[in-house]
Amino acid sequence: MKVNVNETILRLVQGDITQQETTAIVNAANSGLLGGGGVDGAIHRAGGPQILKECKDIRARQGKCPTGEAVITTGGNLKADYVIHTVGPVWFGGTNNEEELLHNAYQNSLKLAQKKGIKSVSFPSISTGAYRFPIERAARIALSTVKEFININGGFEVVQFVLFSQGDLKQYENALQEVDSFN
Ligand code: APR
Repeated sequence: MKVNVNETILRLVQGDITQQETTAIVNAANSGLLGGGGVDGAIHRAGGPQILKECKDIRARQGKCPTGEAVITTGGNLKADYVIHTVGPVWFGGTNNEEELLHNAYQNSLKLAQKKGIKSVSFPSISTGAYRFPIERAARIALSTVKEFININGGFEVVQFVLFSQGDLKQYENALQEVDSFN
C-alpha cells in the first residue's frame, strides 16, 4: 500500500528491514546502543562489526542514547549506506509519556536523515516488539508523525515501513487509511 505526500512516496511493505535498498534503514535500538534482539540483532548480524564499532564510538563520545533520540552510523555490509539507531519507549500503560516519546523517535530519525541529505528511509515498527507498545496506537503515531514531517519538510523520495509479519502490515494499512483520510 502506498500514498503520495507531496513529492514523497510513503509506503508499507512486508519484509526484512536488513534486506532493504533504501539509503538508510532505522534500527529499533536500546539506549545502550550495543545491540540486542529483534530488529537490533538482525541489523548487527547482517551489517557486521563496523556498525557496532561506530556505536561504541558514539557511546564513548556522548554516552547512552536517550529514549526518543537518534544517532547514525554506517550501514556496514548492508545494502543501506546508513543505519539510524533510535530508541523507542517501553510501554508502561501509556501514562509515562510513551506516545510523545514514540513520536520523537520517528521525528528525530527523519531530522537526522534530512541533515545527511538522505532521500530514502526504511522504518521498522518501533517499540511494538520487546517494548510491548500496542501496535494499533503505535502505527497511528508512526504514520501521522512521518506524514506530518514530510508535509512540512519535503525532501524525501521514499519513506517506507517494513513490517515483519502479515498481521503487522494489516495494522499499518488500517492506520494509514485512517491517517490519510484526515488530511
Ligand atoms: N525486519 C523488520 N521488522 C522486524 C525484524 C526485521 N528483521 N525483526 C523484528 N521485526 C519487528 C518485530 O516483529 C516488531 O514488530 O520489529 C518490531 C520491533 O520489535 P523489536 O525489534 O523487539 O523492537 P522494540 O519493540 O523497539 O524493542 C527494542 O529490543 O532488540 C531489543 O535491543 C533492542 O532493547 C531493544 C528492544
